[in-house]
Amino acid sequence: MCGIVGYVGDKQAQEVVVEGLRRLEYRGYDSAGIALVEGGVVHTTKRAGKLANLDKALADEPLPESTTGLGHTRWATHGPPTDLNAHPHTDCTGRVALVHNGIIENFAQLRIALGGRGHTLTSDTDTEAVAHLLEEELGGGTDLAQAMRAVCRQLQGAFTLVAIDGDQPDVVVAARRNSPLVVGRGNGENFVASDVAAFISHTRDAIELGQDQVVTISRDDVVVTDYDGAPVDVREFHVDWDAAAAEKGGYAWFMLKEIDEQPQAVSDTLLGRYSPDGRLQLDEMRLSDDELREIDKVIIIACGTAFYAGLVAKYAIEHWTRIPCEVELASEFRYRDPVLSHGTLVVAISQSGETMDTLMAIRHARQQGSRVLAVCNTNGSTIPRESDAVIYTHAGPEVAVAGTKTFLAQIVACYLLGLYLAQVRGTKFGDEIAGIVGQLQQIPAAIQRVLAEAEPVRELARSLVDTRSVLFLGRHVGYPVALEGALKLKELAYIHAEGFAAGELKHGPIALIDHRVPVFVVVPPKGRDMLHDKVVSNIQEIRARGARTIVLAEDGDEDVVAYADELIRLPKVPTLLQPLVATVPLQIFACELADALGRDVDQPRNLAKSVTVE
Ligand code: AGP
Repeated sequence: MCGIVGYVGDKQAQEVVVEGLRRLEYRGYDSAGIALVEGGVVHTTKRAGKLANLDKALADEPLPESTTGLGHTRWATHGPPTDLNAHPHTDCTGRVALVHNGIIENFAQLRIALGGRGHTLTSDTDTEAVAHLLEEELGGGTDLAQAMRAVCRQLQGAFTLVAIDGDQPDVVVAARRNSPLVVGRGNGENFVASDVAAFISHTRDAIELGQDQVVTISRDDVVVTDYDGAPVDVREFHVDWDAAAAEKGGYAWFMLKEIDEQPQAVSDTLLGRYSPDGRLQLDEMRLSDDELREIDKVIIIACGTAFYAGLVAKYAIEHWTRIPCEVELASEFRYRDPVLSHGTLVVAISQSGETMDTLMAIRHARQQGSRVLAVCNTNGSTIPRESDAVIYTHAGPEVAVAGTKTFLAQIVACYLLGLYLAQVRGTKFGDEIAGIVGQLQQIPAAIQRVLAEAEPVRELARSLVDTRSVLFLGRHVGYPVALEGALKLKELAYIHAEGFAAGELKHGPIALIDHRVPVFVVVPPKGRDMLHDKVVSNIQEIRARGARTIVLAEDGDEDVVAYADELIRLPKVPTLLQPLVATVPLQIFACELADALGRDVDQPRNLAKSVTVE
């Protein structure tokens, strides 16, 4: 939710930290702040609103030069987005500056107790209490890392904390529980951040921190312990993308760039996973063939766009493996007492690998003895680390809050899982699997064609700026595509949009239809005759009631022409692969309409890319 960065080295900390915040702003943009240590004093500047407001404040009143500092970009949970509630927070003496991502669940009790001990808290946040707890611990002469460990033992909830101390100008100390934190290891400089993007222009060498760990970075050293001060083993990794991947590269919006990167994202997710001897190989599978043969149920859990990728995957996994597959919102999963066993494979799909609902769901599943496999785009994140196996999507960094290329990459990764299960369990012959992999390998070119032919979609979007409500219909794998099309439009353009299974229309939603409501319809390929014909009937039904129909249909499908007010052609692909091409025009439509309405496409209101609170 919030973005955090800390730095110690030989560069100007203000520049390094603000640059890091710029790359982390997708995580929250309610306020931004920075603190530096200089001359035994902590200097802080913070402003409500986007990072541009902090930039202006720093330009008007520069902070002193310093090589140690930290910063924060906020997605508000406790207290409105004001200057006062912006991080960093300080203690009564001003000696400590602290930033936080997550929620301190026992903050109310802590605040009361601190008040009783004479502290004055000035903000509405849960975070500020922690700054005052650090003040108390440091008062006893302990160092910042010891103080942080002592404080963490008093906290409940989810948190990443990063602190600096005016009396210890050469270190930054950070701690984590249930919230993301990675260390960047440089040459004569070190970093801590919510995400490697914050330091990618300085180093690609990173360290993944485990649960309940505290890290002290200085110019030349990184020391990691548990909350009792015992040294712990850490996993080092190298980031396989560079700073250019995290830049806009000439595009007006990150989202446009990421939409255009989809052919590459699909190719890279397939790359290296199919061996010359015709077998699928998934490096990080970590579950043996025997374990995979024991699986009698698959449950996919995820949120938002990742959930829709799971809905698509269900059709393929059941079809290819004949294993029952359920898909469930991660936020609902553990609260309904799901039936889980050792034979259940829980598949957690998450771009960020940090979504709290999904993380809590996998913990619940593992407690119940189920095996967990993560489909994730972020190396070093918590969900893959806490899973028994992982299939990484190699989509590269996704900065726009709205997921695009990772949606397609998630579908591809889940398909690889389905095919791998089919291979191990023998529910598909090798040549059948090879055939499907071959079809998947054609998809990047098909997406490229959709991208090249997207101008009419953009024109359509610009013609619909006065629309107040849009519906999306689909069947089979087209149904989750409809849901995803509606989600994109809601989150980017703030227009009411809903996705429906086309067959469900007559059971109620058809009452919404009149001439003011454009309806997108995703038509299945003609190869599946019954389904195709039923959707064509659905189009006629809504058109008869005055709706403006915007039809997505494959090349050569002439049955839809008479009923389509607008026709968006899709390359011919097999039914199960159609979401990989049909979603793309819907993403472009939402992006263009949002832009035409003057919305901030990359940072829509009220949202954050990574939802690290429940
Ligand atoms: C998609 O456009 C949204 N940003 C959101 O629905 C997102 O997919 C969801 O929050 C899940 O995030 P995750 O993949 O990082 O777990």
